[in-house]
Amino acid sequence: MDYENILLNIEDGIAIVTINRPKALNALNAATMNELKAAFTRIQEDPNVKCAIITGSGEKAFIAGADINQFPGMNAVMGAEFALHGQDVLNQIQFGSKLVVAAVNGFALGGGCETAMACHVRFAADNAKFGQPEVSLGIIPGYGGTQRLARLVGAGRALELCLTGDVIKAEEAHRIGLVNKVYPQAELLDKAKEFCQKVMSKGPKATEFVLYCVNRGMEMNLYDALRLEAQHFGIVCATEDMQEGTNAFLEKRPAKFSGK
Ligand code: COA
Repeated sequence: MDYENILLNIEDGIAIVTINRPKALNALNAATMNELKAAFTRIQEDPNVKCAIITGSGEKAFIAGADINQFPGMNAVMGAEFALHGQDVLNQIQFGSKLVVAAVNGFALGGGCETAMACHVRFAADNAKFGQPEVSLGIIPGYGGTQRLARLVGAGRALELCLTGDVIKAEEAHRIGLVNKVYPQAELLDKAKEFCQKVMSKGPKATEFVLYCVNRGMEMNLYDALRLEAQHFGIVCATEDMQEGTNAFLEKRPAKFSGK
């Protein structure tokens, strides 16, 4: 597929997805969402891609939200379909089997904050800003903001942000647990790549199962989630990588994982 609104570069097993509408501060229109979906289908299916980074073009914005031009004239059915489609795209990112890191290089507002939250890990540039400003437009978050924000930072802080539309700086986002780390803008992408490389050096099945157990387990009661973990612990014991990883430790040598 040819992309017009995103860039997809694959380097050393890492897919770098750049939202590329800088004139609109990388706002997400319907075409961009479709391209994002197609890109993540490709990422999921391509065995040469081990993980992905999402970032924004330019130095000002990660994603300044859904494209507001879409809203006037939207009726109830269109609105519900709009939200469901966006949620579907972001679910594909969160519940896929490959690590996805958000490298938030500027404004992450509305759908931008929601896209970052669907990623497994969030790194922010020191100029990044986060918020769910939908109430200022008379609407509510529709790409999962009311749910993922509450799960990440707690209901009280999520309500504060969603009710006021306040925009917070990267340091505050870090303080409340919305982002993992804050870096100078110039270092952000390299730090995200370093993180991907570190994860790629581990057992691939172990990585996949950690993502699955944390993502799915968070939606279950503790007892069932622990069972899910135990089942995956059992499955991972049947892998060649488990033999290799544990033997390598005992033989005092680096492990060479095959993903089998
Ligand atoms: N949808 C459509 N266009 C957007 C956009 C969005 N979410 N966010 C920014 N843009 C466009 C602006 O309309 C402007 O286009 P123009 O140059 O053709 O006029 C361009 O991007 C630059 O934005 P501008 O507002 O001039 O930049 P700024 O530095 O003054 O402000 C923001 C930056 C992010 C604070 C401001 O653009 C903003 O509040 N955007 C909307 C954020 C939002 O509400 N997101 C949730 C949507 S549900």
